[in-house]
Amino acid sequence: MRKKVTIVGSGNVGATAAHWIAAKELADVVLIDIIEGVPQGKGLDLLEAMPIEKRDSSITGTNDYKDTANSDIVVVTAGIPRKPGMSRDDLLNTNLGIMKAVIGEAVKYSPNCILIIVSNPLDAMAQAAYKMSGFPRERVIGMAGVLDSARFRAFIAAELKVSVENVTAFVLGGHGDTMVPLPRYSTVAGIPITEWMDKATVDRLVQRTRDGGAEIVKYLKTGSAYYAPSAAVAEMVEAIVKDKKKILPCAAYLQGEYGINGLYVGVPVKLGAKGIEQIIEIKLTAEEKAGLDKSAAAVKELVGVIGV
Ligand code: LAC
Repeated sequence: MRKKVTIVGSGNVGATAAHWIAAKELADVVLIDIIEGVPQGKGLDLLEAMPIEKRDSSITGTNDYKDTANSDIVVVTAGIPRKPGMSRDDLLNTNLGIMKAVIGEAVKYSPNCILIIVSNPLDAMAQAAYKMSGFPRERVIGMAGVLDSARFRAFIAAELKVSVENVTAFVLGGHGDTMVPLPRYSTVAGIPITEWMDKATVDRLVQRTRDGGAEIVKYLKTGSAYYAPSAAVAEMVEAIVKDKKKILPCAAYLQGEYGINGLYVGVPVKLGAKGIEQIIEIKLTAEEKAGLDKSAAAVKELVGVIGV
C-alpha cells in the first residue's frame, strides 16, 4: 500500500515539499491549510504534472483534517516566515499559537503518524509539538540539520570546485545563529575539509552556513528559503518511508545524550520506519562541546519563554 504524507501549510515550503515528495513518488500527499482554495489549487496543479513526470503519486488539497486521517507522516510547515532583520526567534509566539491549532487536529486523525516539524523557531516548535502530541520522542522530529548541512555542503563543493556528491557535512545544535558546523567531521571524498582548506576559508564557510537562512531572507525580502528546506523534508520522508536507516542530522529530544536533558537539539540520528531509531553520540572536542552547550542554552531560553 502506498504511504500517505500530510503536509500542513500550503505556502512555499509546504507546496514545494509536496512537489519533491510527489516527484520522487515517495507517497500520496495531502496538502492542508486554513486558507480556502490554495491547498486544493496547488494540489490539483501538482497532480496534473504527474503524467509528465511519469509518477503515480496522488496529491490532494483540503481544509478539513478528516482528509488527513491515517497519515504515516505529518509534516508541519505552518507558520509565518521571517522578514529581513528578524531572527527565527521573533516568530516564537505567533507560530506557537499556530502549532497549538495544528498538532491536536493532526494527531487526532493520525494517532500513529511520525511528525516532522519545520516551523520556526525550529527546535522550540519541535519541543512544543512533542509536548502537545504526547507522542514518544521517536515520532517527533525537527527538520534543520539536513538543511544546514546541505548549505555547508553546497558552499564546500563550490569553494573546491568538486561534485556535491563528494561532500558530506555535519551541523549540530539548534537551528539558529549558534548552530555548530563541524569541519572535523565534514569531508570531501572521505578526507576532512580541514585538509583541503586553510582555517580562514573553513571559518568563512562555517559562518556563511550559520547565516545561510538570513542570506536568503535578505534577497527575498518577503519570505524565507523554501527549495532547500523542502528538499531536506523530502530526504527525511524518504528515509522513513523506505526504512533506509539513514544517518541524518535532525532535531531530537535529548534525554541525557551529549549531557543534555529534556531539550530538542540537532544531533545525528538514524531515521527509519519507526522514526528516530537511534541517536548517535560522537566524541566532541572541548571547543565543539562548548559550542553545542551554547546552542542548547539558546534553545532552552526559548522553550522557557513558552513553557514547554
Ligand atoms: C532557513 C529558515 C527556513 O534556514 O529557517 O532558511
